[in-house]
Amino acid sequence: MSKKQYRIAVIPGDGIGKEVMPEGLRVLEAAAKKHGVSVHFDHFDFSSYDYYEKHGQMMPDDWKEKIGTHDAIYFGAVGWPAKIPDHVSLWGSLIKFRREFDQYVNLRPVRLMPGVPSPLAGRKPGDIDFWVVRENTEGEYSSVGGRMFPDTDREFVTQQTVMTRTGVDRILKFAFELAQSRPKKHLTSATKSNGISITMPYWDERVEAMAKKFPGVKWDKYHIDILTANFVLHPDWFDVVVGSNLFGDILSDLGPACTGTIGIAPSGNINPEGDFPSVFEPVHGSAPDIAGQGIANPIGMIWSGAMMFEHLGEKEAGKSIVEAIERTLAERTLRTKDLGGNADTTACGKAVADMVD
Ligand code: NAI
Ligand code: MG
Repeated sequence: MSKKQYRIAVIPGDGIGKEVMPEGLRVLEAAAKKHGVSVHFDHFDFSSYDYYEKHGQMMPDDWKEKIGTHDAIYFGAVGWPAKIPDHVSLWGSLIKFRREFDQYVNLRPVRLMPGVPSPLAGRKPGDIDFWVVRENTEGEYSSVGGRMFPDTDREFVTQQTVMTRTGVDRILKFAFELAQSRPKKHLTSATKSNGISITMPYWDERVEAMAKKFPGVKWDKYHIDILTANFVLHPDWFDVVVGSNLFGDILSDLGPACTGTIGIAPSGNINPEGDFPSVFEPVHGSAPDIAGQGIANPIGMIWSGAMMFEHLGEKEAGKSIVEAIERTLAERTLRTKDLGGNADTTACGKAVADMVD
């Protein structure tokens, strides 16, 4: 029986992206071997300052042909603010992927890991384990609006929230499906229909309609203000949390912050239909302050690889990586410096690869 071979576009980018990527690949290869997954990596040097220096642009004109038919994109980090403004590097690469590959889901796990002290008192591994699902293409982040009568007393600005039925329903469907696949089968919706009296009641209405299609999923909703408080006070209440672009943006930083360090947090920018490749990348950036020292924590990159395998349908391989991360973090000597250990990037990556089973 011939099995599908996945083609992955590998883009390390800048700074510590280049240092954590080899560890991500090492662990993916180990998990692929153990679980009989066939995967092929194509490496690309664009979306980096080095490429920009040579070519005067972040990516080749035909970037879409080069990576548009891969099964997924495994991305390090981009940006080198001392040499190139962030809006040029990010908008010239990563933002283009998100927009032009219609990656309308931004997905982040919120999970308290062993060996990572939580800023929330008294929480231990197992207590916090949920997902934040953010709408990634419309909502509050629209370009509809403008400024009139500048520099006069009548000066005014306006920017409109745009919610389409297509856009709202597809993010809700993704979130409900995710909730349905989890043991707790519980979805929480972020709203603010008491204050934002047109778009947010519409959002609530679509949640209610979608919930009818998922009778096995329990759901509730909170206004965003109390919801942020409950992330801190009762993180154990949540399983899958879905929000509009703005609310999801806030929750997807607050959630991982409640579980400790930025060095281990992964994320996916997902086109669920698979019309385009999805991007899996650590939450952190290129960290110029520690780049080149070999001390970057590779766990965010590695965990992003686990999410990528799960997205591709290789659930067992993905799960084995997350478990290997947990076993590695439990040993102080295998952790990197940011987590109080003394392992370097490579030693930590090798430890995770060895733990995969
Ligand atoms: P950053 O995430 O690169 O670094 C923030 C702080 O966290 C630094 O002190 C850094 O040393 C530390 N840190 C980050 N990742 C770490 C890891 N794996 N291990 C240990 N320590 C780690 O954010 P910053 O400094 O604001 O941005 C640097 C550059 O990265 C900028 O050009 C920014 O635009 C870009 N950036 C790119 C992102 C992406 O590619 N998706 C995301 C965030 C920032
Ligand atoms: Mg953000």
